[in-house]
Amino acid sequence: MFRTHHCNSLRKTDIGQQVTLAGWVHVSRDHGGVIFIDLRDREGLTQVVFRPEENAELAKQAHGLRSEDVIQVTGKVAARVPGTENPKLDTGDIEVVPTELKILNRADDLPFPLDTEISNEDLRLTYRYFDLRRPRLTRNLQIRHRVAKATRDYLDRQGFLEIETPILSKSTPEGARDFLVPSRLTPGKFYALPQAPQQYKQLLMVAGVEKYFQIAKCFRDEDLRADRQPEFTQIDIEASFVEPNDIYALTEGMLAAVFKAARDIEIKTPFERMTYRDAIGRYGSDKPDRRFGIELVDLGDVFEGTLLKVFQNALTTGGVAKAINAKGFAGLTVGQSDELAEIAKNFGAKGLAFIKVENGEWKSPIVKFFSDAEKKALKSKLKIEEGDLVLFAADKWEIACEVLGRIRLRVAEIQKLTEGSEQLDFLWVTDFPLLQFSAEENKWNAVHHPFTRPKEEDISLLEAKKFGQIRAEAYDVVLNGVEIGGGSMRIHEPDLQEKMFEALGVSAEDQQSMFGHLLKAFKLGAPPHGGIALGLDRLVMLICGEESIRDVMAFPKNNRGMDLMSQSPAEVDSKQLRELRIKTIPLE
Ligand code: AMO
Ligand code: AMP
Repeated sequence: MFRTHHCNSLRKTDIGQQVTLAGWVHVSRDHGGVIFIDLRDREGLTQVVFRPEENAELAKQAHGLRSEDVIQVTGKVAARVPGTENPKLDTGDIEVVPTELKILNRADDLPFPLDTEISNEDLRLTYRYFDLRRPRLTRNLQIRHRVAKATRDYLDRQGFLEIETPILSKSTPEGARDFLVPSRLTPGKFYALPQAPQQYKQLLMVAGVEKYFQIAKCFRDEDLRADRQPEFTQIDIEASFVEPNDIYALTEGMLAAVFKAARDIEIKTPFERMTYRDAIGRYGSDKPDRRFGIELVDLGDVFEGTLLKVFQNALTTGGVAKAINAKGFAGLTVGQSDELAEIAKNFGAKGLAFIKVENGEWKSPIVKFFSDAEKKALKSKLKIEEGDLVLFAADKWEIACEVLGRIRLRVAEIQKLTEGSEQLDFLWVTDFPLLQFSAEENKWNAVHHPFTRPKEEDISLLEAKKFGQIRAEAYDVVLNGVEIGGGSMRIHEPDLQEKMFEALGVSAEDQQSMFGHLLKAFKLGAPPHGGIALGLDRLVMLICGEESIRDVMAFPKNNRGMDLMSQSPAEVDSKQLRELRIKTIPLE
């Protein structure tokens, strides 16, 4: 047998047993000729001790071992010398005293140590196979496996079938850029990698599958962030003859099963629900982090007759005046205050008025414009106290909310308001707008995707072309301020789908060439259907307490979309390009 136990299995009760272990030299220490090795495998660490007085030859051999050498040891389990037990290790009461040592493979000079935090992520990604030996990353991969397994088991129990859909597919407009794959057999034509299996899962509903899921790879060519990768995984779900409540209950049950399996945590269901308008109005975000307060307060009534021009202008032109109270933040530094002003500017604010409450005084360039009644109302509405910093935005509703929402998040980050919090705040955000006007493109775009259904009572607004007022039967599930999933009820009627495409400015010809298959399918008895997709990477990131989805993916790309380990993307052979009839144009 290569090994009788793994490195996290031996306990006091095994003392006296003959065992064989195999793994990596995690650390090796020489205490006056006695060699202590922490032997590591996937499961954990076991101490192995070579004492020259017991076996001089072996101790000499062990003396030459270096970190990350791969070895096999056979020996006896012994109690550690009293007083040297390590309560931090599961195997901390025992050690193995070997009678045999086999060096299976040597490790060269290491690119970086494994037992300290390395801030150079590019270096870690270049040696990812090495980096993954870090116990934290090993644990993350194990948790990810358990999450995927609990998901499959749960959905199987609910009668869902896991069905694979093509990777070489056709562009689905999910809002990002497509990755394209040239076709050799039909030169000049391209497959698109799926941004999501959206159309396929809807076509499976037309096919009568009724309950589909897939742990699906998705590809989106977009700017990368801590919680965005060009290639990521969704728990993708679709069902026929359902209402939003069915999808909510299914998702809640699934998340409860996942948290139980992965972390032994019981989560509270059902989750609270909040409309999009409320989320934006109260938190300035469609994925509110409610683990801290600092809610946005509307001051329209307070400033009805204000003398302050900038507030007056906003209010008389259909806008709003809103504020947040950053409790105890009056003492912010000049640098922090500049940073908040910069955030406000970046998100479109014309300014960021403030009041600092210090030594019983309201310090602010705008207080002189406030009447006593206004001050009194402000004080009570915003619960203003000594040490507070109140920040104002007067603008169009969307801008004022977003600006204060962003500032709210930054203030909470600076004040470390969520640090150490174990809270899991799940929330459904509902009633998203169906369409959003893009000033840049001068057209209406789908907020989710073009297959999302308007709310029944708003369908007439689509016919009346009141695009800005239509609410979608769409929902997102949010955990601690992160959007972990989103979905909707779908359009299943061909004429309604055509109207939606029209609203999006898709011409009749484009409708046929891009979506003809779907429109045809809808004419052959499409059932009412709807679904959701959860970002598996984001979910696992939160379950693992990580800050980046890269830490829960085996081989992620860096923030420039590169796989540094294999140096991809890379140039290809000119013969390959010729076969594809592709010529590259050098950059100017
Ligand atoms: P959506 O585009 O909202 O919906 O995606 C669903 C979830 O996938 C995750 N996600 C990502 N995770 C990592 N990197 C990315 N680049 C990335 N993009 C999205 C998010 C998000 O909530 N077809 C629809 C779902 C449906 O309507 O059923 C869709 O893809 O957690
Ligand atoms: P001003 O009258 O332009 O000097 O502005 C007075 C204060 O109000 C300054 O602190 C500005 O940053 C702030 N301010 C200006 N416009 C707005 C606005 N739309 N919303 C919030 N604060 C503003």
